[in-house]
Amino acid sequence: MVVEIKKVGVIGAGQMGSGIAHVCALAGFDVSLSDISIDRIESGLASINGNMAKQVQKEIITEDARKAALDRISPAADLDLLADTDLVIESAIENEQVKRKIFAQLCPLLKPEAILATNTSSISITRLAATTDRPERFIGIHFMNPVPLMELVELVRGIATADSTFEVSQAFVDRLGKQTAVAEDFPAFMVNRILLPMINEAIYTLYEGVGSVESIDKAMKLGANHPMGPLQLADFIGLDTCLSIMQVLYEGLADTKYRPCPLLVKYVEAGWLGRKTQRGFYDYRGDTPVPTR
Ligand SMILES: NC(=O)c1ccc[n+]([C@@H]2O[C@H](COP(=O)([O-])OP(=O)(O)OC[C@H]3O[C@@H](n4cnc5c(N)ncnc54)[C@H](O)[C@@H]3O)[C@@H](O)[C@H]2O)c1
Repeated sequence: MVVEIKKVGVIGAGQMGSGIAHVCALAGFDVSLSDISIDRIESGLASINGNMAKQVQKEIITEDARKAALDRISPAADLDLLADTDLVIESAIENEQVKRKIFAQLCPLLKPEAILATNTSSISITRLAATTDRPERFIGIHFMNPVPLMELVELVRGIATADSTFEVSQAFVDRLGKQTAVAEDFPAFMVNRILLPMINEAIYTLYEGVGSVESIDKAMKLGANHPMGPLQLADFIGLDTCLSIMQVLYEGLADTKYRPCPLLVKYVEAGWLGRKTQRGFYDYRGDTPVPTR
C-alpha cells in the first residue's frame, strides 16, 4: 500500500531528531516530536528555534517560513500522539535494545500502512525490521549531522523492504531537497564504514602518543584538506555514538581492525561525550575549546 506522506513522527529530540524535525517542518510536513520527557522535547524545540533563527539571519529562509515551520511541529510527550503519522523516523540513542523497545511500543499504535524508518548510524536494518510488525514497510533513512546543512541522506533497504517503501522514502527525501545515496544493509552502511575507522585511528594515534589532540586535528585539516579535524568531528558526532558504531563494526564484521580504541571507551565511561556534554577531546565550557590531552 503506497502512502502519501503528510505527517511525520520523529522519536528522539537530540541533535539528529531535532535536525530531522527542523528540515521536515521547513519542507511543509506536519511533525510530531517525541522523546522520553517533555524537558528533552522542549530542549529540542529550543535548538530548532535557534537554528532556524540563524537561517533567517543568513537569509536562507524568511521569518514567515520560520514561524510557519515552528507552528507545524507539535510536542508528543506520549507515543499515542504519533498514531496519525504516515512516516515515523526513529532517532533515539544508538542502542539496539532501546530502539527495539520503542518499536514494540509504537507499532500497535501506528496505522497499518505507515512507514517506519530508523536514523541508525550502524545497526542492521534487517534485524531491526524483523522485530516490528511491518518489515516490508521498514527502512533506514540515515541523515547526516548537522541535518539542516548536510546534503546527503543514505537510504538503506533491509532484506524485506518493499519497493513501494523505498520509492515513497526516496520521494520524501527529494522533497526535503536532499540527495540520496543507496547503501546495502551491512554494518555502518557506507559513510560511517569509512569515516568511523578513520576517527578511531585518530584516537589510537592520540592514545599511543604519536600526536596531541591539536596536532592530530591540525595534521588532518592542513595535510588532508579535511574541513574539521577527526577528534573535533568525534566530539561533534558524540563519543557515545562513535563507540556504538565501532562496536557494531567490530561485532558485525568480526574483524579486529575495528576494535574500539580503549581511550574512546574511557572518555565515554567518564561521561565525556563531546559537545553535547561540553567535554570530549576538547573542553567547551569556556569561550574557546581547549584540548583535554
Ligand atoms: N550524531 C551524529 O552525527 C549522527 C549522525 C547520523 C545518525 N545518527 C544517529 O541518530 C540517532 C540519534 O543520535 P543523536 O546524535 O541525535 O543522539 P543524542 O544523544 O543527541 O539524542 C538522542 C535522544 O534520544 C533520546 N532517547 C533515549 N531513549 C529514548 C527512548 N526510549 N525514547 C525516545 N527517545 C529516547 C534521548 O533522550 C536523546 O534526546 C542515533 O541512532 C545515531 O546513531 C547520529
